[in-house]
Amino acid sequence: MKDTTAKYMDAAAGWSEGQYADPSGYLGHRADLIVSLGPRLEPGDTVLDLACGDAGLADHLLPRGLLYLGVDATEPMVAAARARLGDRARIELGDLNDYAPTEPVAATTIFRAIYYARDRRELFSRIADFTERKLVFDLNPRQYRLEDVAVDLEAAGFDALDLRPFFAPQNVALPRPLGAALRAAERVGPLARAALRVRFSYLCAAYRN
Ligand SMILES: C[S@@+](CC[C@H](N)C(=O)[O-])C[C@H]1O[C@@H](n2cnc3c(N)ncnc32)[C@H](O)[C@@H]1O
Repeated sequence: MKDTTAKYMDAAAGWSEGQYADPSGYLGHRADLIVSLGPRLEPGDTVLDLACGDAGLADHLLPRGLLYLGVDATEPMVAAARARLGDRARIELGDLNDYAPTEPVAATTIFRAIYYARDRRELFSRIADFTERKLVFDLNPRQYRLEDVAVDLEAAGFDALDLRPFFAPQNVALPRPLGAALRAAERVGPLARAALRVRFSYLCAAYRN
């Protein structure tokens, strides 16, 4: 585990604000899709965010009425997340490959960390055991074949998969109208598929039919 966390040790303080040029636009859009893609989440539902980093996402899920449980394997990230959230949410130190919550959760999320799965199919199966409604994660289609990931999801019992191109840029803060136009383009099939050949990722919501 040390190998995968070493590079995050010094990056924890101010992670979200440093990683996302427009943290609120980027993480707010991610939060909207966590709620709406696949089976809808409702206020009071718990989201388990594996590899949560400094839990910047929580600032956008909590105002939507969701409860947040964050888990990360890097101690300084856990400390930064706890400092951000205080008693608004629980944050635990843990490896996403072994972690299981004490109670089932409505949704489990994994963002920018699916590559830390030791065995992706096994991870999906473990998540399916404690996740009642859906698993939401991002996937770079230039790095992973969607078909392979879908097969692993199905083996874990997630036989339905909704995909949404996710066009919020990480490194550039766009003027509001341009950001809105880009988000609208997520729904334009041929345009979105062309963009995904060179940039951006899918947001994936996996669930049981
Ligand atoms: C690229 S960051 C993503 C953080 C956050 N999810 C986000 O989207 O901003 C990857 C995170 O994965 C965590 N990490 C790496 N290996 C892990 C593991 N085996 N289990 C849990 N967290 C891990 C790192 O500490 C880091 O916080």
